[in-house]
Amino acid sequence: MPRDRRQGRVAVGLDVFVLTGAGISAESGLGTFRDADGVWTRHDLSLVATPEGFARDPARVRAFYNARRANLATAAPNAAHFALARLQSGLAARSGRLFLCTQNVDDLHEQAGCVEVVHMHGELSATRCHACQAVWPDRAPLVADSACPACGATGTARPHVVWFGETPLRMEAIADALEESDLFVAIGTSGSVYPAAGFVAEARALGIRACEINLQPSDNARAFDERRYGPATEVVPAWAAEVLAGL
Ligand code: OAD
Repeated sequence: MPRDRRQGRVAVGLDVFVLTGAGISAESGLGTFRDADGVWTRHDLSLVATPEGFARDPARVRAFYNARRANLATAAPNAAHFALARLQSGLAARSGRLFLCTQNVDDLHEQAGCVEVVHMHGELSATRCHACQAVWPDRAPLVADSACPACGATGTARPHVVWFGETPLRMEAIADALEESDLFVAIGTSGSVYPAAGFVAEARALGIRACEINLQPSDNARAFDERRYGPATEVVPAWAAEVLAGL
């Protein structure tokens, strides 16, 4: 519903801001980061997910992301991704909105039918030239001597993912959408990486109700008004159906 801070905004339906993390893709076979068998228990993030790591050993970084691209090629969206796509179209049909912001670099939300997904940590299926910053779709393995299609430089290709120490993408659009929302929902995220981990506090400070959906209480659990725990493939479809039924 409209609030004073939304003066001038036309939409009057329910406006939901959803933040997703690795937990929503876990049941699609993509590993999470901080669980017992998580990616960061097997790889040193300072070596594979920082600009310094890439400068020191680009071959190691390319191999890490090539393995993740190969893993993504075998993954398919699960019931939680599809439920968010149904919720997004259902809200839009009733003058509302689901703004979907993901920390995930996979494209399973898009494969499930979600539109305008904001990938704040970038996208695994894209490559960026670190000379001219051009970004292009790319699912093939990264190689040392590939040429940038925009500037022609060779050896400048890097995965289009945000590394530790870099600024997440689309932060202005994210701040605007959060401010306009009626409900903030975090799904499958440990709440330990900022700025995303701070969204719940920002929402609460704006008077926006907040709900956490996760396998278990996250680091931020107590900041939420409502908490629902269990596998995303079960809890997200049930929650989305409730929201649609209540419209
Ligand atoms: P984490 O691995 O930190 O957290 C995943 C969360 O998902 C945990 O709280 C799990 O309990 C939960 N989870 C696991 N399986 C689940 C399931 N089947 N259903 C529901 N929840 C489940 O992943 P993120 O919070 O996404 O950043 O990590 C945030 C960022 O840290 C990532 O985007 C990545 C990483 O380092 C960069 O690489 C920049």
